[in-house]
Amino acid sequence: MKLVTAIIKPFKLDDVRTALADVGIQGLTITEVKGFGRQKGHTELYRGAEYVVDFLPKVKLEIAIRDDQVDSAIEAICQSATTGKIGDGKIFVSHLEQAIRIRTAESGDSAL
Ligand SMILES: Nc1ncnc2c1ncn2[C@@H]1O[C@H](COP(=O)(O)OP(=O)(O)OP(=O)(O)O)[C@@H](O)[C@H]1O
Ligand SMILES: [Mg+2]
Repeated sequence: MKLVTAIIKPFKLDDVRTALADVGIQGLTITEVKGFGRQKGHTELYRGAEYVVDFLPKVKLEIAIRDDQVDSAIEAICQSATTGKIGDGKIFVSHLEQAIRIRTAESGDSAL
């Protein structure tokens, strides 16, 4: 299993959620976060305004999926989250050791 962590522009959340549902992703967690990329100290557009602060609002998605879902999930996020401008975000993929559905005690792929 893999844990896909994606940092996206907040206004893209609905598009990304729809795109992920379309490729069969059943669950995800989001967190409102702040961050910066390589333009640290430079301006980036947010809701039409130029921010000169280092930290910009982003949304973090965490998606636990089977190994065979990783490519389609990445493709779905990339296509739906892009504007072509700086700050579109990033995707990190990590190995996920275990998953457990609390109600049924199912574990592994069956718990996703
Ligand atoms: N190396 C990193 N580690 C952790 N979080 C990161 C890293 N790079 C970017 N992020 C997160 O992703 C968000 C978006 O990053 P961003 O898309 O600006 O990356 P970038 O490398 O500057 O690319 P671009 O040139 O397209 O802007 C940041 O605000 C931050 O929350
Ligand atoms: Mg950037």
